[in-house]
Amino acid sequence: MDKVRSYLATGGRPVTVERHDAVVVGSGVAGVYTVLNAPEALDIVVVTKETLDISNSSLAQGGIAVSLGRDDSPELHLQDTLYAGAGLCDEDVVRVLVNEARPVIQDICTLGVDFDRKDPAAPQTPPAPPAATEGVGSLALNREAAHSQNRIIHAGDTTGKEVCDKLTSVMLRRPRVSIRERTTVLDLLVRDGVCCGVAVYDECRNEIRLLLADVVVCATGGYGQLYAATTNPEVATGDGACFAYRAGAVLMDLEFVQFHPTVLFHPKNRTFLISEAVRGEGALLRNLKGERFMPKYHEMNELAPRDVVSRSIFAEMTRAGDDHVWLDITARTRKDLQARFPNIYRTCLGYGIDMAKDYVPVAPAEHYCMGGIRTDVFGRTGIPGFYACGEAACNGIHGANRLASNSLLEGLVFGRRIGEEMTEVIKNRRYRPDDAEFFSKALDVPDPRPVLAAEEEASLRVQLRRLMTDKVGIVRTRAGMEEARAWLAPLSERLDGTRPVGLPGYELRNLVLLALLTVEMALAREESRGAHFREDFPHTDDAHWLVHQTRRLGAKD
Ligand code: SIN
Repeated sequence: MDKVRSYLATGGRPVTVERHDAVVVGSGVAGVYTVLNAPEALDIVVVTKETLDISNSSLAQGGIAVSLGRDDSPELHLQDTLYAGAGLCDEDVVRVLVNEARPVIQDICTLGVDFDRKDPAAPQTPPAPPAATEGVGSLALNREAAHSQNRIIHAGDTTGKEVCDKLTSVMLRRPRVSIRERTTVLDLLVRDGVCCGVAVYDECRNEIRLLLADVVVCATGGYGQLYAATTNPEVATGDGACFAYRAGAVLMDLEFVQFHPTVLFHPKNRTFLISEAVRGEGALLRNLKGERFMPKYHEMNELAPRDVVSRSIFAEMTRAGDDHVWLDITARTRKDLQARFPNIYRTCLGYGIDMAKDYVPVAPAEHYCMGGIRTDVFGRTGIPGFYACGEAACNGIHGANRLASNSLLEGLVFGRRIGEEMTEVIKNRRYRPDDAEFFSKALDVPDPRPVLAAEEEASLRVQLRRLMTDKVGIVRTRAGMEEARAWLAPLSERLDGTRPVGLPGYELRNLVLLALLTVEMALAREESRGAHFREDFPHTDDAHWLVHQTRRLGAKD
């Protein structure tokens, strides 16, 4: 590598160089659990763009899928995952997920994660076989969409927060783990095809640093900020996928973007999730005339796979010209709702909606990216030393549509695998004494072109999110996507090589790159499958499209 194509080039300023055993990028469940599974002796730095507690994982409400019920099994969990994934899941990888679910849940319970337990006063099902009873046998199990069994464990309606808080507090007790908040990875450092660390922008000190390391784990989450309405936090701009792509990693399945069916639709809040678990507890969907509509669309009604429910809501809204539908859980008592969904109940009440007597206004919003950095079953990306995990990764588990509550589980199962592999990688260190000098020089590129004004960057971001929502959203057409591409392609060229105004400009470049790749993959896939629905190709075409699409810089795989 001659030059690192860093978006925040140093322009001759000196850079600070540090050496660590490993860098973990992202502080959601995938990143934190990777650290907890790495040997304690390793010097690991966790880099996070905002603060430790801000991640997609910590916003997860519903829970974690694990087959613990008497009539359940990993095989049934596998079948449900494959069904939701619409033919595109990689069965071998799903098998790893469902088989390793129970041990990771047992482990995190041991680490202090406090899931809801069955009500001891409630009628008991016969005890589960001995293997299932080690600490997890008494966990309460709920239902979510497209699951054939009750298998969602949860901590009230803030499961992600409970898991992240507890695991993070364990991580913080590790003496050799250090944390860098408000630090954004700009580039992966690759020399002779091997990952050697990352270049980061440290916002607090306003400086670029090189973190040299033998292992880099990308757990940066997805790219929900491509869309105008998303449940993701503002940091979800797909930086991980972009720095991986620029360094030569392969991106896969970007066209599959999941829209959660029920996101609060209120003038003051269009991002708050109303968990699928609410439908799992019996909530019904109604159009603005008050008519229940899901039975018209799918035999599983409100608990059909997520893509089906989102499209059905979209169809109802489009037909009537409405901008939302209703979620009706008024059949449940206030006491029940307050006990089972304390956060959702309280938040809705804050907007004047009492779920016990009022319908909740909801509309679909972007929620999860099935696509990302291609990895194998050990989180390896193909670039030695560089791993990806969680939503940032694409290992084929979710296929064309993720099954509810499989995402935290994915972060745990594959975080553990990556953590365990670190010792081996570090034993065969590749560090070269002149790496610091080599990468400092590579970063020292002059400003190629004038900057874009900050106001223009902000306005382009708004336009991009609107365009993606309208043209590359729940229902897609060739004409719409070509329009999106015609706007994005020249913008991408224009931005390429200009120096951004700080982080917003860096994020804009990443969003434009991912939007363009998403549009191209969605245009190429001339069929409908899972979350990718084309009005001009409404049928699934297994004869031609039972394949993953991939993109690598400078090549089409
Ligand atoms: C939800 O609680 O509805 C979200 C769960 C998930 O995304 O799997």
